[in-house]
Amino acid sequence: MKLVNAKDMIAKAYAGKYAIAHINTNNLEWTKAILEAAQENKAPIIIGVSEGACKYMGGYKTVADMTIDLMAHMNITVPVALHLDHGTYEGALAACDAGFTSVMFDGHHLDIAENLTKTEKVVAKAHPKNISVEAEIGSIGGEEDGVVGNGELADPKDAISITKLGIDFLAAGIGNIHGAYPANWKGLNLERLGEISKAANIGIVLHGGSGIPDGQVKEAIELGVAKVNVNTECQLSFAAATRKYIEANKDQQGKGFDPRKLFKPGSDAIKATIKEKLELFGSINKA
Ligand code: 13P
Repeated sequence: MKLVNAKDMIAKAYAGKYAIAHINTNNLEWTKAILEAAQENKAPIIIGVSEGACKYMGGYKTVADMTIDLMAHMNITVPVALHLDHGTYEGALAACDAGFTSVMFDGHHLDIAENLTKTEKVVAKAHPKNISVEAEIGSIGGEEDGVVGNGELADPKDAISITKLGIDFLAAGIGNIHGAYPANWKGLNLERLGEISKAANIGIVLHGGSGIPDGQVKEAIELGVAKVNVNTECQLSFAAATRKYIEANKDQQGKGFDPRKLFKPGSDAIKATIKEKLELFGSINKA
């Protein structure tokens, strides 16, 4: 199956009160693990790629071509969208030309007028190419790819203005944080999520999906979250499984140092983490 945009899968999830997993990729092994997990669980999926990860992997086109070719080689039949995560204005436009089927323009750091103007321009470039668009209001706390956010709650008035531009789904700051949640974290602001969801009337994106208690994730999905972004939990499970392999000296036994063997426990661990998320988000068998 060819890559698709994320519009239909998110709209269906929003109507059916489940969420699509957005799993960030970091390399070829990651992308293969995401595709295998989606196919095995018959779940539509979004492969998220940050600009930093794109740079690491050799640019937008390398990432798009690799994903397209892997899907053909692996006979992937579930819907898969390739999505630029936290794109800059220039990055979002470039990803539209490189084969991505979905882009996020993250203008949360701009004043709302400029965020709206640039979001509108990204929509104007993306939609004629059948590419879905995510925008952001408020901000997600924590650090991602060197970008530090303080976690400002989104304003429902901004949700109305930005959805009028025709975006397909909306990321909103509701107390969520990228990376690990601190012990004194107050939890998601579900009341604000409800207000934003009502104002936007399209699928809401929950960033910082690693480490949120399951009950809060489920409540958030009930209130209109239709896409949950997960990165850190896959990185942690990959690292833990790789550490276990090396600490058991398996890299020193036979050809255990072969990267295809060395990466196997980590890849399997990513797949297991993704499966847990698909179960939690309710997207198994929705392809
Ligand atoms: P985590 O790394 O906290 O899972 O967040 C991922 C994310 O929101 C990507 O946009």
